Amino acid sequence: MGGIAGPRLVAAVAEAGGAGIVGLYKHPPQEIAALIAETAGLTGRAFGINLVPEVVSEAVLVDQVRAVLAAPAETPPFISFYGLPPRAAITPARDVGREVIVQIGSVFDAVEAVNRGATQLIIQGHEAGGHHLSRRPMADLVAALVERLPAVPVIAAGGISSGEAAAAAAAAGADAVLAGTAFICASESAAHDVYRAKVMAACSADTVVSDRFEIGWPGRPHRVLRNAVTEAAVPPEPAFIGRTVLFGRPYPVPRGSAAVPTIHSSGRIEEMALYCGTGCDAVTRIEPAAAIVARLATGFAAGRNASATDPTVTAAPVTPVTARAG
Ligand SMILES: Cc1cc2nc3c(=O)[nH]c(=O)nc-3n(C[C@H](O)[C@H](O)[C@H](O)COP(=O)(O)O)c2cc1C
Repeated sequence: MGGIAGPRLVAAVAEAGGAGIVGLYKHPPQEIAALIAETAGLTGRAFGINLVPEVVSEAVLVDQVRAVLAAPAETPPFISFYGLPPRAAITPARDVGREVIVQIGSVFDAVEAVNRGATQLIIQGHEAGGHHLSRRPMADLVAALVERLPAVPVIAAGGISSGEAAAAAAAAGADAVLAGTAFICASESAAHDVYRAKVMAACSADTVVSDRFEIGWPGRPHRVLRNAVTEAAVPPEPAFIGRTVLFGRPYPVPRGSAAVPTIHSSGRIEEMALYCGTGCDAVTRIEPAAAIVARLATGFAAGRNASATDPTVTAAPVTPVTARAG
């Protein structure tokens, strides 16, 4: 989660046995090196770096990948991409044996991602908070993907904030789960307090898939909490409504910006992009990331055990996964 999943949250997830992923955006190489160094200074365990191919040019993306690969770390980070990256961005990572996890929203893109070199897949259902790759429910996509690509580890994403939801993903055949919304209110998250309070108070019906927050990341619908911007009959004026800090520099936030409100943001937080998945029903308090990881892991294990003992459920083939998403 760009802006929210920084070194503190990622290290806390890693220390708890998950695999936290540092969310990046249009970060220059020196910022990437600094974030990896900071995270590696907080944990010696596996963590990942997330890049978003569609917000940068191919040349910049490849430079970002090279910056990740060049950064020294006790446990070199795996790379995760949001959406299909070009082969040129995957190959350098694969050439040095790095795990490459690609988040996609269809079986078609999953096959293409594997053809381009992805080692694991995150399949995102429409329940997900943040930007959307699919209009289909998570469980349907997982089942379709496990059937089509049985040898590739499949990580389920979308609406998984409780042990029960993690169990359902396991029952659908997932090898692991990825959660975003569940961690917005983690003690170590960098989300703004007003945003966190709204997520804790929200239920799934308070979320909506919108296209209103596309300044900085156009053309990709996103699930957010309903607010004055999503509910206006026409897109409101993109006037400046606040400030934030991006890459260490101040950034004025226009109404309609894709920037999520963080601890560095000020202004009309309630009108900003309050990304949130349908799993917000289960997010009701601030608690350490370790407690959230434990709940999801326990639920996932229970779902897997139930599938193994229920003859009506076809168990998915289990492939060793070297990096679990968090
Ligand atoms: C606040 C927020 C920010 C996100 N930012 C990113 C991002 O920068 N890169 C990315 O790959 N996915 C991002 N996502 C999407 C997640 O990868 C994932 O698909 C989603 O969180 C899963 O659904 P859930 O939020 O219901 O758990 C974000 C999600 C949220 C809620």
